[in-house]
Amino acid sequence: MNNETNDIICGCSGTTRLEVVKLIDQGVADLDRISRITGALSGCGGCEFELEHLLESHRPEP
Ligand code: FES
Repeated sequence: MNNETNDIICGCSGTTRLEVVKLIDQGVADLDRISRITGALSGCGGCEFELEHLLESHRPEP
């Protein structure tokens, strides 16, 4: 599965996977901040699982 596409991950805010991955790559590695920056997770909450999954798979090495 390619996670780095322009698929919309959060339909409520129109946030794409790529936007979220870019933020994670920049070190924005928690859901609260991603939500504040992109607007994701501020609607129905249905994207939470996907966002968490993206975060897990792209979290920078400690
Ligand atoms: S899909 Fe993200 S808040 Fe609804």
